[in-house]
Parts: sequence; C-alpha cells; structure tokens
Amino acid sequence: MLRAPADVAVVRPAARASGRIRVPGDKSISHRYALLGALADSPTRISNYSPGADCAATLECLRALGVDVRRAGSTVEIAGRGVRGLSAPARDLDAANSGTTLRLLTGVVAAHPFQTTIGGDASLSRRPMRRVILPLTEMGARIGSLDGCPPLTVHGTELHGIECRPDVPSAQVKSAVLLAGLQASGHTTVIETTPTRDHTERALTAFGVTVTKAKDRVGIEAGQRLRGCSIEVPGDISGAAFWSALAAGRPGSTIEIEHIGLNPSRTALLDILRRAGVEIEARTNDEVNGEPVGTLRISAANVRSFHIDPAEVPGVIDEIPAFAALGALLPEGATMEVRGASELRVKESDRISRLAEGLHILGAAVEEYPDGFRIEARPLRGGTVDSAGDHRLAMAFAIAATGASAATTITSASAVDVSYPGFFDELERLTRPR
Ligand code: S3P
Repeated sequence: MLRAPADVAVVRPAARASGRIRVPGDKSISHRYALLGALADSPTRISNYSPGADCAATLECLRALGVDVRRAGSTVEIAGRGVRGLSAPARDLDAANSGTTLRLLTGVVAAHPFQTTIGGDASLSRRPMRRVILPLTEMGARIGSLDGCPPLTVHGTELHGIECRPDVPSAQVKSAVLLAGLQASGHTTVIETTPTRDHTERALTAFGVTVTKAKDRVGIEAGQRLRGCSIEVPGDISGAAFWSALAAGRPGSTIEIEHIGLNPSRTALLDILRRAGVEIEARTNDEVNGEPVGTLRISAANVRSFHIDPAEVPGVIDEIPAFAALGALLPEGATMEVRGASELRVKESDRISRLAEGLHILGAAVEEYPDGFRIEARPLRGGTVDSAGDHRLAMAFAIAATGASAATTITSASAVDVSYPGFFDELERLTRPR
C-alpha cells in the first residue's frame, strides 16, 4: 500500500491480516460532545476527539459562532457559551463533507435570534435537508434552501416544542430536533418507529440534561442548563467495521480492536457478521460517560453467503460499504445481498451505484437494485477504482483489493481523511507479512 502524491493509494494483495489496533475516536459522538460543549455553562474537555475532517468542520463552525475552541491533537477544549449563547457569525459556515455537522448545527442555530447560512462541498450540496427543515419550521424557525438542499439559511428565533415523527429513520433528524427542543419553550418529543443511534440522548445526560425515554419516544424539556465536563470519545465502530471485513475476508486472519464503542444502537453489524460465519468476541469492559466501551476480536472462519434485512438497514447504514467489501471477499460463488437501503443513494455519494461500479471493476459480479445490490464473489483481479470522494467507499475498495490477484489503484484516496486519517498506513501494518 503506497500513497502516491497524486491522491492515489495502491493496495497490494494480502494473504492475511493480523494485529491489535485502536481506531480513531467515534465521529458521531465527537460531533455531539463538541456541540453540547459549546452550549454548556462551563468549559468542556474532550479527549480522543475524532481526527477526521468532518469533526474538524464542526469545530470550525463553532468558532465562527463565537466559541473559543482549542485543539491539541485529539484533545479539544471548548469554552461553553450557555444555551442560546452563540453569536451571529460574520461569515457563512462551511460544513465541508459533513451531513451530521450541517443537520445538527441547523437544529442548534434555529433557536438563536440571528441568521446563519450553512453550506458545504459539492457532495453535501446534493444531500436532502427537508427532513430537518420541516420539523424545525414547525418549531418556529424559517429556513431557506436550494430546493431542499444546502446551503441552508436559517433565520433563528424563539422556538416552541413539538411532537415529531421523522419521515425517515435518522439519528441526525432526531438530534437536530432534540437540540432545538432543548433551546425552545415547552416539551419536545421525537417518536421513532425504527430506533436509531442514541448518542445524543446519552451525551445530553452526560452534560447533566434530563432526557425521557419511553418505548419509541424520546423527550426533552426546555429550560435545562448543560454542565461542561471532561469527557472521552470511544473508538469508532464504523471504522472498525472495515477491519472486521478484512479479518473476516482473508483466511487465517485475526484482528483485535481495543477501546471500541460498543453502544447497542451501533452493534447490529456484529450480528450480521456472525450470520456470515465470522468469529467475533465482543467484550464490554467499561462505560465511559454513558457509552459502553470494550474490545472486539474478529477472526476469519468459514465465511458464507449472507444478506442484510431491510429492517436491519438503519442500524448498519454506515457499515454497508464494509459488508460489500466482505461480499467481494467471500468464497467464489457465495453472495451478499442488501435491500431496503435506498437511503444509501443520498449519502456522501450514491453508495449503491458507486459500490456496484467499483466492485465490478475489481472482478465481482454485482447486480444493482433501486434499493440495494447483490454481490456474487468471483476471483478478484484488481484495477483502478474511484472513491467518488466518499471516505467509506475508499476504505471498502481497499479492503476488497486485498483479495485481488494484482494491485489496485484507488483514486481520490484521501477521502479517507473524512473519518479515518492514517487508514492506509494501518492497512499496511495489519497486512504486512510476518
Ligand atoms: C449519523 C447518523 C447516520 C449516519 C451518519 C452519522 C449521526 O445518518 O449515516 O454517518 O451521527 O447521527 P442518518 O441519521 O441520516 O441516518
């Protein structure tokens, strides 16, 4: 695996992978701790903050909103400004490639009495935002957009609580509404027919806010203050998913991942891997600021065909590229299928067509559906594949490429920096013959 200057990574075939690693701090949790730190009454110190560009974008946006943010490596110190304490920005905010930054921050600034414009890169500018615009408008905000896409111009004001049933299962929508509800009047409830990751609820609790949970309802009462705190981010299980696919897909491999977030709303991938015949040991050792943390040990066993049910999709939406890589690494003729996943078309790229295209180039047989795809494993030959600027596709192609008969070139490989800087070095280390 060489990184050439022209934003290209070359991945060589690798017989097996082994080692013990730590993955970067969780992206979803890092965004939330930074946003809540900014709304707290006292300073917050975050350790193991995600090194990715997405979470850096959140910090930059907070700075533009008058927050004093200091960063030294993976430690971030935030001087909280209190609920509704942010300042009108002197410039437009840039969420770069980060949907989480844009959607959650829209909920935060909607309650502030000034105008904020938030945009991002070409990929983010194509992503659907009506899902947050509609409930926040119902709470009293006025939000302009380009036909439902960024940039969003948020005319913040005094908001009132609502009861909201998001149209799509989305932790980002739930979080945007809860963050707005915290700063509104009255009570806000989000009703989720399909549960999504619950980091916002846990993070609010860690910052001293009372969140009520009953069956499919999450509620928050306005008027609560946030206490700044010293808080640590666990390793990102969505990053670990790629190492799981690597260990599972290369016979004779074992990878152990330490200090990994094992929040049950994120671990559905482990059940699917087990169904595919992968040997997994997940041990929760600790709860850090309300988030379960532990170790994962993944070994290749007799991997076989597997599919992901539509009902499972929201719980593994970010891991589907890793599952696709494993699909391409299965024994010849075995299959991997996912349906009910049309949401993948509106992620950082159209992950259905881009995965189908890239894995087909590498040698897999791929059938694309409007809402998913089916991969039949064939001998992989390598080739040149493009990440489409999507971090999870760059990583998925790299993992699949380890099983090819010749080297693979991945273009726009630096997309991995969005969530996992150093990914290619880690791949090199784990697959180095020993
Ligand atoms: C995220 C939620 C998911 C996920 C994204 C991060 C979050 O998006 O795909 O990478 O941090 O809340 P949706 O809420 O749109 O499903």
